[in-house]
Amino acid sequence: MTDTNAQPVIRVEDLYVSLRRRRDGATIRAVNGVNFSVGRGRTLGIVGESGCGKSTAAMALVRLLPKSAEVRGAIHFDGRDLATESQGALRRIRGRKIAMIFQDPMVALDPLFTVGDQLAEPLREHLDLDGEALHARQVELLQAVGISSPETRLKQYPHQMSGGMLQRIVGAIAIACNPELLIADEPTTALDPTAQAGYLELLERLSETYGLALIVVTHDMGVVSRICHDVMVMYAGQTVEYGPVRAIFDQPRHPYTQALLASIPHAVEPGACLPTIEGQPPDLAALPPGCPFAARCPKVVDRCRTEAPPPVEFAGGQRALCWRADER
Ligand SMILES: Nc1ncnc2c1ncn2[C@@H]1O[C@H](COP(=O)(O)OP(=O)(O)OP(=O)(O)O)[C@@H](O)[C@H]1O
Ligand SMILES: [Mg+2]
Repeated sequence: MTDTNAQPVIRVEDLYVSLRRRRDGATIRAVNGVNFSVGRGRTLGIVGESGCGKSTAAMALVRLLPKSAEVRGAIHFDGRDLATESQGALRRIRGRKIAMIFQDPMVALDPLFTVGDQLAEPLREHLDLDGEALHARQVELLQAVGISSPETRLKQYPHQMSGGMLQRIVGAIAIACNPELLIADEPTTALDPTAQAGYLELLERLSETYGLALIVVTHDMGVVSRICHDVMVMYAGQTVEYGPVRAIFDQPRHPYTQALLASIPHAVEPGACLPTIEGQPPDLAALPPGCPFAARCPKVVDRCRTEAPPPVEFAGGQRALCWRADER
C-alpha cells in the first residue's frame, strides 16, 4: 500500500477530552484515547452513533470546545502540538491552515451579508487580499465549488439560494485560504439525496485537487464508503476500530463495526428489516469497567465486562479494540 499517511498532515496521539455536564457537574469522558493520522489528499471518516464523541474529537483538534473542556494528548500539526498552543495561536490557524464545515450552512453564514462579503472576510483577514485580486479569488472559489454565474451569486444574500448551494458556499469559504486540513462535521445531513451526492463529489475533488487532508464526521457508513480512504469507528469516546476503508468493509473485526455495516441499506435483502443495534451506549459520566460495548455485544464473554480490551493489530494498518478481534 502506498502510504501518504507516512508523513501525515495531522497526527493525533492518545487524545482525551472531558467535559463538565451542566445539569449535575458530572465529568463526561467524551473522548477516551483516540489515535489517528491523515495525509495529504487523504480522507478519514469518523463514524459512530450519536453521542459517541465524534464532534468533540474533531473540534478538539482546533479546540472549539466548551470552556470546561480538558484536553490531554498530542495533536501534531505543522511542526507543533496544537494541544499545547494558546487560543490566540489557534485562532490564527483556524480558517487559515485548518478549515471547518458544519452541518447547517445557516450557522456559518450571516443572513445580513452578501455571499461576496462573507467570502471576502477570510481572504482579507488571513491573506491580505484586496481589490482586483480579492475579486478574482472570490470568483475562482465559487467556480471551484461548482457554482455557475459567480458574479451574480457574489452579490446575493443567503436566503436567495438553495440549501445545496449554501453548503457549497460554506465549502468555498472553508477552502478560501488554501487550508492543509479540512474538517467537515456531518456536511451533507441537511441536504436532499441529490445535493448530498453532489457535495460528496465536491469534497472528494477538493481534497484531490488541493492535496487537502480531509476529516469527515458522519453517522453514515454510506458516506464513508463513497469518499473515505480510512475510517475511525468510535464508540463511547474510544476508537474501537481503525484502518483502510476497504479492509474494514471486507472484514470488520469489531462487533460494533460489524453491526454498523449490517445496517447499511444495500447490505440487506430488499424489503428486509434493517438490523438495529439493541440497547443504548453507556453514560459517558459513568463508563463501565471493561469494554463499553459489552452490554450490547452479541459476542460478549465474561472478561469483556471486567477488563478493558487491548488494541489488536492486523495487516494493512487495521486495528480493533476487542478481546475477540482475532476470531473469524
Ligand atoms: N458542551 C457540552 N457540555 C457537556 N457535554 C457535552 C457538550 N457537548 C457534547 N457533550 C457530550 O459529549 C458526548 C459526545 O458528544 P458529541 O457531540 O461529540 O457526539 P457526536 O458523536 O458528535 O454525536 P452526534 O452524532 O449526535 O453529533 C455526549 O455525551 C454529549 O452529551
Ligand atoms: Mg456530532
